[in-house]
Amino acid sequence: MNDPADAGHRIELRSDNAAGAAPELLAAVAGANTGSALAYGGDEWTRRLEARASEVFERPGVRVFPVVSGTAANALSLSALCPPWGAVLCHESAHILRSECGASSMLGGGLQLRGLPGPDTKLTVDAVHAAFASTNWGDNHHAQPSVLSLTSPTDLGAIYQVDEVAELAAAARERGLRVHLDGARLANALVALGCSAAELTWRAGVDVVSLGALKNGGLSCDAIVCFDDAAAAELHYRTKRSGHVASKMRFQSAQLDAYLADGLWLRLAASANATMARLTAGLDRLGVELVVRPAVNMVFARLDGPTADALAAAGVDFYRMGPDTVRFVTSWQTTPEDIDAVLAVLERHRA
Ligand SMILES: Cc1ncc(COP(=O)(O)O)c(C=O)c1O
Repeated sequence: MNDPADAGHRIELRSDNAAGAAPELLAAVAGANTGSALAYGGDEWTRRLEARASEVFERPGVRVFPVVSGTAANALSLSALCPPWGAVLCHESAHILRSECGASSMLGGGLQLRGLPGPDTKLTVDAVHAAFASTNWGDNHHAQPSVLSLTSPTDLGAIYQVDEVAELAAAARERGLRVHLDGARLANALVALGCSAAELTWRAGVDVVSLGALKNGGLSCDAIVCFDDAAAAELHYRTKRSGHVASKMRFQSAQLDAYLADGLWLRLAASANATMARLTAGLDRLGVELVVRPAVNMVFARLDGPTADALAAAGVDFYRMGPDTVRFVTSWQTTPEDIDAVLAVLERHRA
């Protein structure tokens, strides 16, 4: 059997960000390319998107703000929820803290991000209570906890159950904190949990969601989904002030509408989750140790250096997270054949 590289082919497992745009979303862009339309969101696609979000999230009046990246969605959401003297409590591994270059602090006028410990990259109610206990409430020498930000799936691919979100949100409310969800891969979490978008978000106490589309077939569009009127009123100005009100918003809105329509977002995510399940079943068969058992489309696994080198040379792209740890991420574009080819390479080349 030949390696993919022998046929000049490479298999993409570095990131779902490396995948292309889904044909359905490209078709939606083409469909919106009909003559002129009012700029800056005054178009029919943006109106339709908000109606669609209200239907999908089962709540009237949901506000949606399209943005160009997950970082923008997070930073703008947090800036609208947290005062400049406030602190956002998050897990110490959270993308907002580790991988966004302080964007939330910048757009939030200096708000502080406070990372808390927790097993499996997830926050616990105890950690939130401990953060409250160590806060000097009302003391103007200290940032005041104002928002709890959850990431699900987490940066290591773990997910919160619906009741975990509800318990954490209830703990946050005890001290008047508002709740943000970084849902860069929200669809993958929904598919894994088999719950509705409403159950995992506002019904569990979430006020604002960063809704990922980019990693799941979108083309330069993620969105802020807002269930909180006060935050929406702020976002109206904050999105513009930070340069996130696209003049041709119709092309973002058309994609997001198509994404949420007829369960497309869930089908794309289900495909990515399924190819990851196929990969991890194969890794189990080959006796490869998994650092964390994946709930969605991302796995961290132990591979020694020579095996990782052989896998890369054979035509598989992935990230090395340490001397003997690799990360594989599947996307809507990954096929079962890709996964079988990767497993065949591993079987042949394992050192
Ligand atoms: C959990 C999570 N949140 C937010 C982001 C930020 O998205 P972007 O890279 O589009 O800014 C990422 C990107 O990888 C992510 O994994």
